[in-house]
Amino acid sequence: MEKVAILLALFLGLCVSQLRGSAAQQYWTPANATFYGGSDASGTMNGACGYDNLYNDGYATNSTALSTTLWGDGKSCGACYAITCDTSRTKDCKPGTSITVTATNFCPQDYSKPNDAGGWCNPPRQHFDMSEPAWETIAQYRAGIVPVNYAKTTCRRTGGIRFTITGHDYFDNVLITNVGGSGAVSAVSVKGSATSWTTMSRNWGANWQNGAYLTGQSLSFKVQTDDGKSIQADNVVPAYWKYGDTYESYNNFY
Ligand SMILES: *[C@@H]1O[C@H](CO)[C@@H](O)[C@H](O)[C@H]1NC(C)=O
Ligand SMILES: *[C@@H]1O[C@H](CO)[C@@H](O)[C@H](O)[C@H]1NC(C)=O
Repeated sequence: MEKVAILLALFLGLCVSQLRGSAAQQYWTPANATFYGGSDASGTMNGACGYDNLYNDGYATNSTALSTTLWGDGKSCGACYAITCDTSRTKDCKPGTSITVTATNFCPQDYSKPNDAGGWCNPPRQHFDMSEPAWETIAQYRAGIVPVNYAKTTCRRTGGIRFTITGHDYFDNVLITNVGGSGAVSAVSVKGSATSWTTMSRNWGANWQNGAYLTGQSLSFKVQTDDGKSIQADNVVPAYWKYGDTYESYNNFY
């Protein structure tokens, strides 16, 4: 009985600390939002993070491109943002709605246009160019652009972290998708069954590279996210892997 009470106390304590954790993350920041990619979001596939088909990658149409300021050279790939339309500044919101989107693409600057007339993604503007279906959950289509408030939020994913191996001998490139928690990967190491840990560097977007010869070895990865948490996926890739294959870890960040 005493044990049960202690466990219950621990559990409740955990709940409270998790509530505090999520409350602490709700710092809303003003930005603006537009949309792109068509009503079926087909134009949002193959974005600058390197996630090819967003349906396969688990993001579906809940995605956004980020302005230079938010993009951080691809460091924000995979991060999740809760976005609400600012009803105090426009009548074009759908009141009481919010959407969580994953950063999958870059919205480039366009210096041929003024920042407040088409150059929405020019620095220093904080701007979300959202998939059309995501945008339409919070705002009226006709508006085109709306003021929003956003907060970085925890990414909730189904299943493990996915590793897609591309490249060739002595040039391994790994696309990392479906990352929970912060969602934004900040460091990666790889270990072959016959080699020691070596660090990988960001090639572009969510692609990480290194020059080790890993062919024919089972592979383990250490993945760190930008909130400092890390996960080790031991032997997530079996020795018989081929370029183009995707493997999923049994663990993820939550
Ligand atoms: C949103 O857009 C309006 C109009 O261009 C601009 O005045 C405002 O500063 C923008 N907000 C942010 C946070 O960039
Ligand atoms: C996309 O967001 C909507 C609305 O919040 C949600 O119902 C849906 O499950 C999300 N889809 C995915 C794949 O996360």
